Amino acid sequence: MGTAPRAIARSPSYILPSIIGLCSLSIFFLIYKVNYFATQTKSVAGHNLEPTPWHLFPPKTFNHEMLPTRAYKLLQCSYLACRHSNTNNGNESEQVPRRSASSSGAKPPECPAFFRWIHHDLEPWARSKISPAHLEEAKRYAAFRVVIAQGKLYVDLYYACVQSRAMFTIWGLLQLLKRYPGRVPDVDFMFDCMDKPSVNRTEHASMPLPLFRYCTNEDHFDIPFPDWSFWGWPELNIDPWNEQFQDIKHGSQETTWRKKELLAYWKGNPDVGSRVRTELLNCNDSKTYRAQILRQNWDDEARAGYEQSKLSKQCSYRYKIYAEGYAWSVSLKYIISCGSLALVITPQYEDFFSRGLIPQVHYWPISPNAICSSIKSAVDWGHGHQAEAQAIGKRGQDFMENLNMDRVYDYMFHLITEYSKLQDFKPVPPASAMEVCRESLLCLADDKKQKQFLERTTAYPSPISPCTLQPADSNLIRRWRKEKEDTVQAVEDMSILNGLPMP
Ligand SMILES: *[C@@H]1O[C@H](CO)[C@@H](O)[C@H](O)[C@H]1NC(C)=O
Ligand SMILES: *[C@@H]1O[C@H](CO)[C@@H](O)[C@H](O)[C@H]1NC(C)=O
Ligand SMILES: *[C@@H]1O[C@H](CO)[C@@H](O)[C@H](O)[C@H]1NC(C)=O
Repeated sequence: MGTAPRAIARSPSYILPSIIGLCSLSIFFLIYKVNYFATQTKSVAGHNLEPTPWHLFPPKTFNHEMLPTRAYKLLQCSYLACRHSNTNNGNESEQVPRRSASSSGAKPPECPAFFRWIHHDLEPWARSKISPAHLEEAKRYAAFRVVIAQGKLYVDLYYACVQSRAMFTIWGLLQLLKRYPGRVPDVDFMFDCMDKPSVNRTEHASMPLPLFRYCTNEDHFDIPFPDWSFWGWPELNIDPWNEQFQDIKHGSQETTWRKKELLAYWKGNPDVGSRVRTELLNCNDSKTYRAQILRQNWDDEARAGYEQSKLSKQCSYRYKIYAEGYAWSVSLKYIISCGSLALVITPQYEDFFSRGLIPQVHYWPISPNAICSSIKSAVDWGHGHQAEAQAIGKRGQDFMENLNMDRVYDYMFHLITEYSKLQDFKPVPPASAMEVCRESLLCLADDKKQKQFLERTTAYPSPISPCTLQPADSNLIRRWRKEKEDTVQAVEDMSILNGLPMP
């Protein structure tokens, strides 16, 4: 009896420190575990991912955040954010427009003609179909894999993408799901976010690999998909496409055609490993070539608040030059949007919409083999054919205006839908894939700017169905290619002729 009180009295004296000791030990252990887990968690912002080995760039750093903060944020964004979001996808009030539209029978428009390239791009798998083995092979060239299953989006991340490309591309896919709720089919595809197409048609002739990216060309199987800049490019302060287009159009109207400067203008970064951009520097002579070529220094622009790089302020020239970068360049759409006569140095790569642009209809082709003299010859032609030059500029601008975000989503919708018809398996997210949702991306968007750009491009359910896709017609595509080549050749011949008697 007598010992009991002592035992009771004594027990806290050693149990308490042990509990405290154990607690702190397990807290340390927990922190260690959480940190360890966080270092294993990949994110669309690029956490714990190496740059693509086929196109290296400086690895991403997240130094501005303290390590524990970053770890907890990463875990919260990746594992918890989507838990609470799923009800959002079923927001009843948001789904109303779709239902009422289908019952009201609002007729969707026909898709732009260039949407037919979707059939062309998927033709290699028309017979073989797309199997899991195709994806497994394509994975060797991919930065990430996208699986859509029952309206949810999953990504399996392999490599980091430069800047916020991955984040904005995946955001675009989420908005597509939101725009057409319940209509985007289950799908499984590989995506590479770097510039150059990689699935060579000759080398992969026996087994074409399906790989989405931002551009392609005749020599590659790569499937073009709208690039991230349609949702904005925060690193360069380039607004989401719908806002940016309006801004450029207004800017272009500030100077009438007559008052526009009689020069061919280009401003950009020439140091991107592009032959045409390097050669373009030699044309910087307003007397001999009627061209003004300016170097864009993005660091300086950033410091100056991007005032000098505003795209809407670059429409006061009558001629605007387009030069490809390392591969295709996102600048094409901004240049054509000016309504000036676009002088397009014949590109090697095409993105999903540029195939719809027709030389002498929407732009003037410039020979990549004689850039400066072709520019001069084009400007001379423009001086002699004012009305025609202005009309080409206007048609180009109208083309870009018609390529609004509704059409961009429709292109994504049709491409994904046609692709999904070729899958010979049922898409299931792999174990290593993670669900992504609006909340998780907003959570990962690390600076105010990224987040703001994402929020500004939130899509809402469409009141009408996607535009109607025209059937496949490979003869038509062949004819388009041929006509384009012939026109480009004809203009080249003409400019050589005109160039000969140069004083
Ligand atoms: C549902 O959609 C409506 C209309 O877009 C929006 O105002 C509302 O905030 C949404 N509700 C939720 C819970 O997201
Ligand atoms: C594609 O591969 C073939 C055969 O290896 C090669 O000759 C050709 O240059 C490659 N094309 C490109 C665009 O890399
Ligand atoms: C082109 O010439 C202008 C005027 O002579 C000059 O200010 C500009 O720096 C030159 N551009 C390049 C890329 O050197």
